[in-house]
Amino acid sequence: MANFLSLKNFEKNELLKILSEAKQMEQNLYNSNTLFSSKILTAAFFEPSTRTKLSFFAAAQRLGMKTLDYLPEFSSLKKGESIEDTIKILEGYSDILVIRHYEEDIFSKLDTSIPLINAGNGTDEHPTQAVLDLYTIQKAFSKIDGLNFLIVGDLKNGRTVHSLLFALNNFDVSIKLFCPQELKLGKNFFSALDQDFLKRISYVSKLELTDIDVLYMTRIQYERFKGKKPKGLEKLYRLNPSILSKAKDNLIILHPLPRLEEIPKEVDSTKHAYYFKQAKNAVPIRMAIISYCLKK
Ligand code: CP
Repeated sequence: MANFLSLKNFEKNELLKILSEAKQMEQNLYNSNTLFSSKILTAAFFEPSTRTKLSFFAAAQRLGMKTLDYLPEFSSLKKGESIEDTIKILEGYSDILVIRHYEEDIFSKLDTSIPLINAGNGTDEHPTQAVLDLYTIQKAFSKIDGLNFLIVGDLKNGRTVHSLLFALNNFDVSIKLFCPQELKLGKNFFSALDQDFLKRISYVSKLELTDIDVLYMTRIQYERFKGKKPKGLEKLYRLNPSILSKAKDNLIILHPLPRLEEIPKEVDSTKHAYYFKQAKNAVPIRMAIISYCLKK
């Protein structure tokens, strides 16, 4: 059994195995329901979610598992029970736990005998999202190496970006970053990346798509701002037809969603819009990740 908490220093061959297993899972979506039929997956989400929680439930149910949904606002947390005690209790009812929490260091406080999956820890990481991002890219291009990325939005607070960069650290890709000045990646972040990879990352000052294969958009995480919240920062990098008209024919646009105004609805009907396919890919990827955690 294994936890799935971070993509920092995650073995490339393990990552490739998960991508490959997800392909198998996708091909066998309707006949995998005996694989883990004796197991229970519990989701404990202390922050809102649509995609991550429901795709974990869909993945677990496709694998024949039962699911429990722990809802903090209707639980004994409201009577003062600690998170540590809560997780100990959930451990007794489950075979695998999927946790989303607003604290970056939440997993260092938890000690369980069953696998834990990180579904987002504050602004730090969202590793299962990054694996489904890679899967979507691999499906679109039949490769990851050699691609040019432009990653845009709230790079400081966007945990999907952090996990994606840790994952891409394993590949021969080039990365451009574009964001509002105050939302750049923290300096410490780069210390976790290989020197060779760092040479292939640069900030750009314009949203230009000419040589880009993968445009990875993110929303501004307004809920993470302390004090007075700015408004409409995403207007700085809103995709408009003029920007998109200069894109390569096979550009794909990814977004972990939810979106704000950075991708207007009219982009949805273009051949470049991959973000809804990306969200759907969450199911086979999360099936593969559950399998990785339970079998390892
Ligand atoms: N991509 C993502 O994490 O979406 P949710 O917040 O809806 O789970």
